[in-house]
Amino acid sequence: MVIAGSIIGANLLNIEEILKLTSESGIDWIHLDVMDGNFVPNLTLGLDFLRKIRNSTNLPIDLHLMVSKPEDFVNYSLYCDMIDFHIETTNFPFRLIDSFKSVNSSIKVGVAVNPVTDISFIQFLEGFIDNVLIMTVEPGFAGQKFVPNILPKIEKVKNIVSNWSKKPFISVDGGINSENLKLVLEKGANFVVCASYLYQDYSQIKQKVLYLKEIAKNF
Ligand code: DX5
Ligand code: ZN
Repeated sequence: MVIAGSIIGANLLNIEEILKLTSESGIDWIHLDVMDGNFVPNLTLGLDFLRKIRNSTNLPIDLHLMVSKPEDFVNYSLYCDMIDFHIETTNFPFRLIDSFKSVNSSIKVGVAVNPVTDISFIQFLEGFIDNVLIMTVEPGFAGQKFVPNILPKIEKVKNIVSNWSKKPFISVDGGINSENLKLVLEKGANFVVCASYLYQDYSQIKQKVLYLKEIAKNF
């Protein structure tokens, strides 16, 4: 299991301390949420801030675009290792994936889906995606409650990709904590994004990461 720390859940005034604690904590990836105030009713980081984070950490960066026009954010792929766009924001996923790769040929690309979006479309993306990011809350804010109705969708993704030669990550994002981790791992998630659970009180981050990894040992 990969743990991605979503630092938007932390007090960003302490960003240097947060990045330091994150890299010492055993977290595998940093997850960064980009919100445009349009696709979601919230606004987060821009390209300059992303570049500074890129230069301040050796951890791989998973960039989650929650923006209405992902084609305007293609340059963001220069400063991350994986970029996830929402399927609800484009009718042209192949073209979009190509444009990320034309800026950064080694970029991994993920497709994110809102809780009520059906997942069957991913059958058409075999060989083109490295991550399927299943939202387990509606996108826009950290600190929301995990929606258990989404659990069957994780299994559906696992079944669709089971015969793919290049398997994407199966990620879950939203309300993940030590209580529901087992539920998502049971269904087939192998990449978990956590903000509030890890960062609301990040003085305990190392212990929390260890605890999550302990739970994951049985899967
Ligand atoms: C929600 C974001 C998530 C968020 C997770 O719109 O995509 O990455 O930071 O926060 P928690 O873990 O608090 O639900
Ligand atoms: Zn996210």
